[in-house]
Amino acid sequence: MCGIFGMIGDGAVGNTLRALGYLEYRGYDSAGIAALRKDRIDVYKTAGRIAALKKFIGDVPETDIAIGHTRWATHGEVCAANAHPFLSPQGRFAIVHNGIIENYRDLRRELNGALFTSDTDSEIVAHLLEKEYRGNALEAVLATARKLRGSFAIAIVSVSDRVLYAIKNKSPLIVGMSEEGAYLCSDIRCASHWASSVAVTPDDTVVELSDNGARFFRLDGTPIEVAFFAPDKAEEAERVDGDFMLKEITEIPSKLRLAEQGYFSSGGLGLTRDIARRLSRVYLIGCGTAYHSGLEAAAVARQWLDIDVLPVIASEFIYDNYTVDGDTLAIFISQSGETADTVRACERVRRSGGIAYAVTNTDSSSLTFACQRTLNIRAGAEYAVASTKAYNCQLVTLTLMLLDLGRMRGTVSDATYDEVLRGLEELPRAVEKILEDGYGIAQLAEQLKNSTAIFYIGRTADYPTACEGSLKLKEISYIHSEAYPAGELKHGTLALIDNTVAVVAIATSRELRDKMASSVTEVATRGAKVIAVSPYTFENAVRLAIPETHPYLYGIAAAVPLQLLAYYIAKRLGRDVDKPRNLAKSVTVE
Ligand code: G6P
Repeated sequence: MCGIFGMIGDGAVGNTLRALGYLEYRGYDSAGIAALRKDRIDVYKTAGRIAALKKFIGDVPETDIAIGHTRWATHGEVCAANAHPFLSPQGRFAIVHNGIIENYRDLRRELNGALFTSDTDSEIVAHLLEKEYRGNALEAVLATARKLRGSFAIAIVSVSDRVLYAIKNKSPLIVGMSEEGAYLCSDIRCASHWASSVAVTPDDTVVELSDNGARFFRLDGTPIEVAFFAPDKAEEAERVDGDFMLKEITEIPSKLRLAEQGYFSSGGLGLTRDIARRLSRVYLIGCGTAYHSGLEAAAVARQWLDIDVLPVIASEFIYDNYTVDGDTLAIFISQSGETADTVRACERVRRSGGIAYAVTNTDSSSLTFACQRTLNIRAGAEYAVASTKAYNCQLVTLTLMLLDLGRMRGTVSDATYDEVLRGLEELPRAVEKILEDGYGIAQLAEQLKNSTAIFYIGRTADYPTACEGSLKLKEISYIHSEAYPAGELKHGTLALIDNTVAVVAIATSRELRDKMASSVTEVATRGAKVIAVSPYTFENAVRLAIPETHPYLYGIAAAVPLQLLAYYIAKRLGRDVDKPRNLAKSVTVE
């Protein structure tokens, strides 16, 4: 979702274009930059990829102040006019914006007669800045900031004083400094390519960035102190065989080990025995793939925990009436740590006095600041929009957390705990075996790519795996897909089964093997092509074998063939697997 970058320093245009490349992973549909010249601002913007923007810009002269933006359309169609930056009516300011200005319609009405060049909510900011300008740019920025409602990280270039400003509320904004310059950026990973120290801007803050450094203000103009720290340096992303998604799937075995080691080296669950025993419920909250890892972790933890473990979609949690009190542990799961719905849900838990933990791949993210404790899954950077290795690593961390909770509550014995740890040791090898069969999965993809729909079914802990497999497929192949508990198929969905569809049955439970065999037969006899992801064989189904593993850990392994299947189907359909249409990696608006 939208990414912003701003820089004061030599080569600002070139560096801003490079930064937009680092922000591409967030998902976007158009891009632009603004370069401050001697007494004016030049804006260059196009629909499409950064490569198109670079071509459009050509060989423009360099400058020492620039801002840039990757846009993921929310208000107004995808076109150059709706791309950022926006110039203020007299050209005094240029702005880029990530988030949503919720009161932009009211603000537009107040500017009766003003001429807007776009359909966006963002352009109002450029107009307000001009309206509020009375000879002092900082005062104009503060006055504008006080009028805005919603979520926003806004970078502003001002011609009059040759300064960069920013306004921040609820959308991520990093301020960075180095010997060579000063920076504004949507994420630390991108900022760390330039900045040797960074600050996470608090909500309701205005930033002034000049050759003299950074100053932070509350909206009433009171200066505030914000701490800077040295960020971990991001590695330059390397490509393997062209696609990040495949590279990230193949990293799963090594990342599983890191997730487990990281859990123990960071001190594990970190609850006192008293609090662990007093808890009356655990929520596992996230969106998309992160929600599915919560769904899976809850399904296995039901085998050993004596309290409710409730997986909830973050955007539902915010507006529904879930009970939260001092005996509630809410675990927020997010690869990026920046998903707006998840952060808002966390704020709701904190307001109600619950205990909020983050399980994330990104330290120093909005979620880690909102939570009391963070467990890092150590999956390493994910660039493909469709999340893969983070899912498997989230499951390692969540499983260990919930097992530790069970131990503290006396519902998990030392023997069981040791068995699961042994299972975890063997898991990377099991996943390697699955990866070795990539060729077979690629061949199967060829047979499935023309299906009119692909259904995923499973029972109990296999149902969340089905949900994740189905999500992967629809995200990157655009084939219609749904996941069902296998027993539910015959209550409606069976009407959709014919010889144009495929059904992927996930069947890891020995006890439920016969039940799954009935479900497989039900759909096979109606003409569906059936694929069984299982350590067992099924009549009427092509088997994607997974090695036997500990029953609590099957979900971690069984997701891998489904990730590969989605990948190869999408490739065979010629899709852009790393950047699927309409989707964003980091969804920073509610
Ligand atoms: C977006 C991405 C998904 C991801 C979800 C949650 O929808 O496209 O791949 O699972 O956000 O992201 P998070 O960073 O919170 O895990």
